[in-house]
Amino acid sequence: MAHKAKNFEHLVGSVKGLSEKQLRAHFGLYNGYVAKLNEIEDKLRSVDRKAANYSFGEFSELKRREAVAFNGTYLHEKYFENLNGKKTEPAPELVKAIEDAFGSWDNWVADVKATAASTPGWVLLTYNRRDGKVHDYVMYEHHIGLPVDQEVLMALDCWEHAFMVDYSTDKGSYLNTFFDNVDWEVVSKRYARAKALYE
Ligand SMILES: [Fe+2]
Repeated sequence: MAHKAKNFEHLVGSVKGLSEKQLRAHFGLYNGYVAKLNEIEDKLRSVDRKAANYSFGEFSELKRREAVAFNGTYLHEKYFENLNGKKTEPAPELVKAIEDAFGSWDNWVADVKATAASTPGWVLLTYNRRDGKVHDYVMYEHHIGLPVDQEVLMALDCWEHAFMVDYSTDKGSYLNTFFDNVDWEVVSKRYARAKALYE
């Protein structure tokens, strides 16, 4: 079944610090990933597998880019879903997990910002199913660099397209805006679910 793009129009005007122009440009890119995911999955149903080849082959190229479109779709959904203009509070369990892993909430925020300075791609707060702790990891493009066995709790889009319209190259101000608008209830629910499933 074809993947369908979700509607995040409610963020326009409610997320303070991200303009309508910025958000709409970003929604457009997200819609493009959904379309490409459908295109790749469609083509994979009929392409000649016998021509698979490490150097080049249509089947092989589709397989190599499948995760880009898939993650490009679902990481953007996680990102838009963990944004909210109204102030929310993290659950005590999430705060404790972050303090246990990073020493303090402020240390964690500093770690996210330093992690964001380390990648042109994604920063993901995850629940690591191997050690049961929360981690900040980077991801290049949409599919490179994330350790296995992770549940994504918070997605932070650090691609320049996420902030260039409003902030030019000032990534630091964008990060402050992001933290002003995180939906902690969503992040807390993702943490509670991961813990219930995997602890
Ligand atoms: Fe993006």
